[in-house]
Amino acid sequence: MVEKPTSNVAVARVFDTESIHRDKMCNLGELTAGIAHELNNPIGYISSNLNTLRRYSQILCELIGDAEKDIEPGARLRWQERLQLVRWDFIRNDLTDLIEETRQGANHLKDVVNDLKTLCRTSMSCEQGIPDGCVRSALTVLSHQLKHRFTVRDALAAPEAMLMVRSQIIQLIINLIHNAIQALGDKGGTILVRSQQADGRTSIAVEDSGPGVDPALRAQIFTPFFTTKSSGTGLGLAIAAQIARNHGGDIRCEESAELGGARFAVEISGWTDGRQ
Ligand SMILES: Nc1ncnc2c1ncn2[C@@H]1O[C@H](COP(=O)(O)OP(=O)(O)O)[C@@H](O)[C@H]1O
Ligand SMILES: [Mg+2]
Repeated sequence: MVEKPTSNVAVARVFDTESIHRDKMCNLGELTAGIAHELNNPIGYISSNLNTLRRYSQILCELIGDAEKDIEPGARLRWQERLQLVRWDFIRNDLTDLIEETRQGANHLKDVVNDLKTLCRTSMSCEQGIPDGCVRSALTVLSHQLKHRFTVRDALAAPEAMLMVRSQIIQLIINLIHNAIQALGDKGGTILVRSQQADGRTSIAVEDSGPGVDPALRAQIFTPFFTTKSSGTGLGLAIAAQIARNHGGDIRCEESAELGGARFAVEISGWTDGRQ
């Protein structure tokens, strides 16, 4: 809790604490961006090498399988004994599992690094952007994923331009719709995107007919790395919340009265560079 200032000295102390906190967050951002940058390259070649390794191991397994057929009957027994000795049947299955598991791990790291890069991106151009245009762009980016199984409805009423980093606002909406897609899963369902403007503030809400967010979890889901998904990064909502704060606003999670699932409501007033 920030203590209530009682004198100019106390006011100065509070502002001092805030500026130290902001500096710390800036340093943390730079550090994270640096780490993400460093990890990007090795993860790229680990991923690509694993794909090659998988291809090579398939060739080797086929060759060893064929050798048993092609080998002269006299040597076949000895060959089978050697395979048994090294437990070849186990190794063949385990090799495939190991490579697949490592590939999934590398892909997960790739997702985390990409999300961290988005979270820390500093080079941004600020412009007059139309919120409804951002919603439409986000829906276009996700159109391929939304094509089957999902009914998308929109009620867009935010046509007034506001100061924003357009790519960030589009990213925010993509993250929310992407979560709705994942919450609805194979069964599909309805996603509703609404927007409104009043008194210089813009509201954008993404609702779905999925299972919703357990009220006990609602305080945690915006924390970086919090995820309930086996392959989630837990960064989508942390990024969305950071973007909303950068635009003088916030984001909250509640139940959708209309669709029964989750409702994420964003309120923004314009680019502030994170300073409220
Ligand atoms: N539309 C939604 N419906 C249900 N749960 C959601 C929804 N959106 C987010 N969540 C919950 O919030 C968590 C954090 O989301 P997010 O930060 O995007 O990370 P991730 O999607 O990688 O798990 C999710 O794991 C999920 O439990
Ligand atoms: Mg997500």
